[in-house]
Amino acid sequence: MVTKSIQDALNKQVCMEAESSQAYLAMAAWAEIQPGLEGITNFFYQQSDEERMHMLKLIRYINERGGQALVPAIEQPMVSFKSIKHVFDEFLQHELKVSSSINELVHLSLAEKDYATHNFLQWYVNEQMEEERVARNLNDKLTLVGDDKGGLYLFDRDILNLRAKQAVAPAE
Ligand code: FEO
Repeated sequence: MVTKSIQDALNKQVCMEAESSQAYLAMAAWAEIQPGLEGITNFFYQQSDEERMHMLKLIRYINERGGQALVPAIEQPMVSFKSIKHVFDEFLQHELKVSSSINELVHLSLAEKDYATHNFLQWYVNEQMEEERVARNLNDKLTLVGDDKGGLYLFDRDILNLRAKQAVAPAE
């Protein structure tokens, strides 16, 4: 059984994952209407699906542990961007916020001696390490590319391969 404070903190995380899913959906939709960004578009559509999966995993866990998962109301995310670098900067900042929220949750689970929740959260700890690594790496590449159109073309193509390597199933 989850305590009220653990339940509330997990529900806050549900909200954060829902916001992440919406934020990345907005990035995908923006990228889709820019010329030639198929790779980036697919990347964010898939990223959005993954965040929904993170949210669902939390919802199921809260309910399984005798709590009540709440589907959150969320605000409209940022829908237009100054540049591709802007999109990826936002992506990294967002993931850093999620990581810090997961860390706080882990801390709370230990403080409350809720070892089942602590164990459950380890999946998120690992996931965040990977997401931060990917977001940093992509930002570094974009910094190298700068305004070079050829470089951007290759970046967009490479991002498709990156997803294939991570063995993430296509969104459709
Ligand atoms: Fe589920 Fe990328 O945070």
